[in-house]
Amino acid sequence: MAKTKVNPKDPSTVPKFVTALKKPSVAKPKPHPDYPSNSYFEIVMKESLHRFHRDFPLTKIWGYDGLYPGPTIEARKDKTIYVKYVNRLPKKHFLPVDRSLHGVGDSPEVRSVVHVHGAHVDWESDGHPEAWYTQNYEYTGPKFRRKVHKYTNHQPAATLWYHDHTMAMTRLNVYAGLTGFYLIRDALEDRLNLPKGDYEYPLLIQDKSFNEDGSLFYPDRPPENAPFPIPAPFIPTIVPFFNGDFMVVNGKVWPYLDVEPRKYRFRILNGSNGSTYRIQLDNGAPFHLIGTDGGFLTAPVEVPSIDLMPAERVDVIVDFSKFKKENIKLINALLDETDPKRDIMLFRVIKPLKGEDTSEIPAKLAESMDLHEHHAQTVRKLPLSVGTDQYGRIMMMLDNKMFHEPCTEKPALDSIEIWEFINATPIPHPIHIHLIQFQILDRRPFNVDVYQNSNGEILEFTGDPEPPLDFEKGWKDTVRAPSGMVTRVIMHWKEHAGNYIWHCHLLEHEDHDMMRPIKVVDAVSAHHPQEHDKSQR
Ligand code: C2O
Ligand code: CU
Repeated sequence: MAKTKVNPKDPSTVPKFVTALKKPSVAKPKPHPDYPSNSYFEIVMKESLHRFHRDFPLTKIWGYDGLYPGPTIEARKDKTIYVKYVNRLPKKHFLPVDRSLHGVGDSPEVRSVVHVHGAHVDWESDGHPEAWYTQNYEYTGPKFRRKVHKYTNHQPAATLWYHDHTMAMTRLNVYAGLTGFYLIRDALEDRLNLPKGDYEYPLLIQDKSFNEDGSLFYPDRPPENAPFPIPAPFIPTIVPFFNGDFMVVNGKVWPYLDVEPRKYRFRILNGSNGSTYRIQLDNGAPFHLIGTDGGFLTAPVEVPSIDLMPAERVDVIVDFSKFKKENIKLINALLDETDPKRDIMLFRVIKPLKGEDTSEIPAKLAESMDLHEHHAQTVRKLPLSVGTDQYGRIMMMLDNKMFHEPCTEKPALDSIEIWEFINATPIPHPIHIHLIQFQILDRRPFNVDVYQNSNGEILEFTGDPEPPLDFEKGWKDTVRAPSGMVTRVIMHWKEHAGNYIWHCHLLEHEDHDMMRPIKVVDAVSAHHPQEHDKSQR
């Protein structure tokens, strides 16, 4: 049979499971006179060429240290590290920039700033979207603060990740490849006897599209049937969402991984711009879930599948010992068999078992969590709604406000708050809050029409509260807020005052102002800490 020519634009011509999965490399500290030994890192953002698939030509990407995914930053709980992210990106973007978006206008085309997603960190090191800078810090954004980020890692072992967070440009910079893992380890993890070393893999799942020549494709305009007029003087590039044609894991299109018949630990991150996955193993084998966004659960739970919206992570153990010689696919069960994107990657259980598998799925993991509803001082009612921007384009809004309207979310340091995400839009949104890890209390359906007709004051519930799903019952920093539901989360603002943000992690929404400021106020210096609390209105 004649071999069809591989066309990176057409998934049907691209063979699956012929490219080996790779484990991202680990970032190495660098000696520096001003910092304790082994605590200082320099990561250089630069353009380079990357092989996505065995049969693809090389593709231009932007990567941390020129790598996609970037090198994994390995940190220890309570051990401070310092990272300088050096911007050596070109001056012009290779993906379509939209100058009509807030803050882009006349400012330099390529800007960058790095955020460690899920980290407890001082705000000047957080990677605020307006703390961007260009090559050699030639231009800096209005909130630029630090050349060297300080991460104290005062939090339990967890699967965090670092990625670009530039105002109105995050979707392009992340899509270009600026993403990597940031793992915090601690003594509890050391004691747990989990699969480690060659048996532990972080898995970054993203979807991408390509042009015929193998270059990355990102749309330069909204779909033909866009429900809004395109503003004439601007390049009409904002798209309402993006779903790529290929599944990419750790930078490889539809990869395979050869494994031994034993337990493996996978830290799975949905790093996609806009796609949601229901990950599942196609032979019905379960995941032993041991952790969520912010760290370990109290005990493992066996789950048949896990839903991941963009930015959500899970820490799982898969036991391949009963599947010698089998091929097992990791699939996205939200899609049916006819969709090529249903397949994510393949595990081939063909390696001989090296020695004995002495790792465990421990019966107990972390200590129990203790955030109780009755401890909350403040409840914030936060609508997610459909609005329009200054050009009449449809956009998704938080609290019916644009990003630059004055800050209304001002939690006091050391307070416990409940935030209620009231989703009156027709789609689900993954809502992420910087600085803290929260717990999901419940979700409750409400009547969207009644809500909209009454200025946001009255809610008519149409059902009982539903508890979080099995794979959500741990520390979270990103939560699915389904349409027509009130999703309630509880958090403790226990460390760091300053300027943070919360936003939708669908990157096209985030870049189009579905983002709001947070100011954590030190209660001692704040005169009226309750001033803006909605519970008081
Ligand atoms: Cu993953 Cu505000 O970001
Ligand atoms: Cu959204």
